[in-house]
Amino acid sequence: MTGRLSMCAAVLLVLGAGARAETIEERAQVCAGCHGENGKPVDKTIPTIWGQQAGYLYIQLRDFKRGDRKNEIMEPIASQFERDDMLAIAEYFSQKPWPDLGQPRAPKDIAEKAVSASRSVGCPACHLDRFQGDGTVPRLAGMGRDYLAKTIADFRTRARGNNPGMSDLMLATSPDDLAALADYLAGL
Ligand code: HEC
Ligand code: HEC
Repeated sequence: MTGRLSMCAAVLLVLGAGARAETIEERAQVCAGCHGENGKPVDKTIPTIWGQQAGYLYIQLRDFKRGDRKNEIMEPIASQFERDDMLAIAEYFSQKPWPDLGQPRAPKDIAEKAVSASRSVGCPACHLDRFQGDGTVPRLAGMGRDYLAKTIADFRTRARGNNPGMSDLMLATSPDDLAALADYLAGL
């Protein structure tokens, strides 16, 4: 009887662990449909989440769920998750290698314009010198150019309203400089 019970307990444990492992993989499968099987997004306006900072990924999922960051696609997806799921998913994707999207380096004049704008606004104070980000500050280096341009525009109109500070900074920077920054960051 004791033997039988402990065997049942063992089976339950295995099933439990299996189900949990499958759940994270299954969830990742859903994400892969857009964010890419190999981490390369299927569309240029979709951001890279492989290798992104875990703290940042978590905050975005939380904000989509709360409706603080509005997006018709991501809101319903994030709404299914509880805090612990979001933390686990964020951790899972942050451990993946950042994909090389093969974007061209910005030409010299554009790069110079971007670097000078980024120095005067102080982007590296938060995103760090090589734009790798840290914690809740996202990596920008090598992010898709079209996504960068889109989300910068969304910050400016406050269509992306989850971080008013970033919106203020983007509004204080000229559209010309921001276009140069998107080219430059994508090519890093
Ligand atoms: C049907 C397509 C689709 C699916 C499936 C999808 N996403 Fe997204 N995701 C998007 C799009 C599009 C955006 C950009 C939204 C915007 O422009 O604000 C996005 C944005 C994000 C962001 C914000 C990234 C950043 O750099 O700001 C995170 C985090 C994210 N998705 C995580 C996930 C996770 C985790 C899953 C799976 C559970 C998932 N997504 C499934 C399309 C999708
Ligand atoms: C005071 C710190 C700070 C400064 C300065 C700053 N950022 Fe950010 N940035 C952040 C934080 C924090 C986020 C994440 C906001 C959120 O949670 O949605 C962010 C988000 C972003 C995103 C969105 C990335 C994504 O994956 O969606 C872009 C693009 C960006 N910043 C570009 C810039 C540029 C370009 C500059 C300089 C012109 C700059 N930032 C200056 C802190 C900063």
